[in-house]
Amino acid sequence: MQYFIENLPKAELHLHIEGTFEPELLFEIAKRNKIKLNYPTVEELRKAYSFSCLQDFLDLYYQGANVLITELDFYDLTYSYLEKCAIQNVRHTEIMFDPQTHTERGIAFETVINGISRAVEDAKVKLNVSALLIMSYLRHLSQESALLTLAQSLPFKDKIIAVGLDSTEKGNPPSKFATVFEASIKAGYIPVAHAGEEGDADYIWEAIDILKIKRIDHGNNCLQDENLIKEIIKRDIALTICPLSNVALQVVKDLKDHSLKKKIDLGLKTTINSDDPAYFGGHINQNYMDTQKALNLTKEELYQIARNSFQYSFLPAIEKEKLILELDLYYLNALI
Ligand code: HPA
Ligand code: ZN
Repeated sequence: MQYFIENLPKAELHLHIEGTFEPELLFEIAKRNKIKLNYPTVEELRKAYSFSCLQDFLDLYYQGANVLITELDFYDLTYSYLEKCAIQNVRHTEIMFDPQTHTERGIAFETVINGISRAVEDAKVKLNVSALLIMSYLRHLSQESALLTLAQSLPFKDKIIAVGLDSTEKGNPPSKFATVFEASIKAGYIPVAHAGEEGDADYIWEAIDILKIKRIDHGNNCLQDENLIKEIIKRDIALTICPLSNVALQVVKDLKDHSLKKKIDLGLKTTINSDDPAYFGGHINQNYMDTQKALNLTKEELYQIARNSFQYSFLPAIEKEKLILELDLYYLNALI
């Protein structure tokens, strides 16, 4: 099974680039930018990675991101993640980035996007990994701030495929961002949003009805509402599930209690992703492996999850077909 998972061609559809910041790289970048950290060593910082809820994690995650200053910093962070994709057989990834985490500290939007997209271009050539970018609005900030971010992004529109919504969910419902999502769609961006991670099913309703999202990030709590499940299936919207993240943030108590298998059995389209791998104890293959063990997933189910990851990506149809063919051949070979 481990061999099957490691070599399975797959896409990652839910990944925050700031959440890939491994403590070693964080210390190295802090040092070159002459920034003093609150933790004396890599080990001390790692010890702090124990969370009781989403907010607990976000506080540390934003602290970590504060050491990113130059275009090279964003390049190094992104390229380092893409190298991990290559060795895990992640053939395509859709990377979220949070511009406001950086622009609020006086870093230019241009610095962030140029560093990240240069790494994406290099990885395509050197690592044969493709990537698309999702600009995520921070929901704990105002809609005005999101609108300003949208305006800042327009000169770089060709580098960004979609807009997302992340950060503190409870108390910040999707409807708070109705105007900026409408404007983002008009500008040509595909809408996605985190919904139903800690928030209830009504947040997912708002995300699909008001923000018109094409993919639900997390979506765990859709199980609270049968009509919602039916509607998600009817509209053919996929869920980007992050099992190890859900355990680390105590969204579920134990991986054995995870609703992924139940969602598959209900007919929901699911994918497996790492969310913030540096903080949650594992990259994508670890997520596949641990979830397989905990829920007894079959090779066929893992194949279907990987197939969904290509099918529900935002790649052009021709690229999707190529990757799905590669996956189908892999699966056929694994069967014989
Ligand atoms: N949820 C909400 N916001 C986030 C997350 C998450 O899991 N990771 C990074 N920002
Ligand atoms: Zn996330």
